[in-house]
Amino acid sequence: MEKGQLLYQGKAKELFQTDQPDLIWVEYLNQATALNGAKKDQIKGKGELNNQITSLLFQRLDEKGIRSHFVEQISETEQIIQAVDIIPLEVVVRNIAAGSFSKRLAIPEGTPVKFPIVEFYFKNDELDDPMIIEDHIKVLDIATDEEITTLKTMALAVDEALSELFDEIGIILVDFKLEFGRTKEGTILLADEISPDTCRLWDKVTNEHLDKDIYRRDLGDLIPVYQEVLNRLKGEKKMYFVKVYVTYKDSVLDPQGEAVKGAVHRLGYDTIEDVRIGKYFEIKVAKSNRPIEEMIEEICDKLLANVNMETYRYEISTMEEV
Ligand code: TMP
Repeated sequence: MEKGQLLYQGKAKELFQTDQPDLIWVEYLNQATALNGAKKDQIKGKGELNNQITSLLFQRLDEKGIRSHFVEQISETEQIIQAVDIIPLEVVVRNIAAGSFSKRLAIPEGTPVKFPIVEFYFKNDELDDPMIIEDHIKVLDIATDEEITTLKTMALAVDEALSELFDEIGIILVDFKLEFGRTKEGTILLADEISPDTCRLWDKVTNEHLDKDIYRRDLGDLIPVYQEVLNRLKGEKKMYFVKVYVTYKDSVLDPQGEAVKGAVHRLGYDTIEDVRIGKYFEIKVAKSNRPIEEMIEEICDKLLANVNMETYRYEISTMEEV
């Protein structure tokens, strides 16, 4: 497929024509923006993470019968999508109070809401994307009654599917924003992207942000956090590889070591000053919220070493295991 002219320059994506009229070539960019573009930075690696996460999520949703414009991921930063007319609405679903909902209604962040809320915002930069009600949508001819029902039904179906998927990998889906488009035939498809840029994701155990709030609120580096979301979605566990060496304390006589030293001397290696025999363990540990050092020391103290007579040291390295 041929990449054609630039059709649309967005904040986080560029859309290009292709040699097929119904297909669009999308390139995910590294630019991060917040506060409607007032805060802007280039963050190396963000484009490819969002492309991979979005591609994976659209595929999972498709398996659950929720159709999107996604056709195929063609490179780390690019995908092919079906051409649709974007409906100028941001459809936000909320499961837990956060962000503008918490601010507007003075409800503390983290408060669960009684049922998933669907909100509509009018995509209009000049007006700063105001929240609008269903009658506004109809009066402005943005969508019909029937289409609004479809948008709400699809948004709630996405919420159910994604909440379950994220829950399985230890993530709470707090809220998210969707966009939709119409095909030539008038079918409504899920569009745009679903990524940590457009969702609030909290770690189930620690409640830590695994999303763009890291950037919006200056909480640190966004890349390792987005990578963590991708790894969990791909089922990749971060593993530690630990080597533990247990030996007798210097003050304790090591009879086996002494015996080996004697034998080595008898073979003529008389420069060997000392031999101490110990135990060696190789341990693989899946990454968790518990500090690995603390856990290894506990295991050594309780099991691997006799702490009255033996001492231990350990080396920790990381390994990726699929
Ligand atoms: P909010 O709490 O700021 O209204 O955001 C709700 C959700 O929608 C949150 O997951 C972030 C996402 N969102 C976007 O993806 N783009 C936007 O322009 C806005 C305002 C929110």
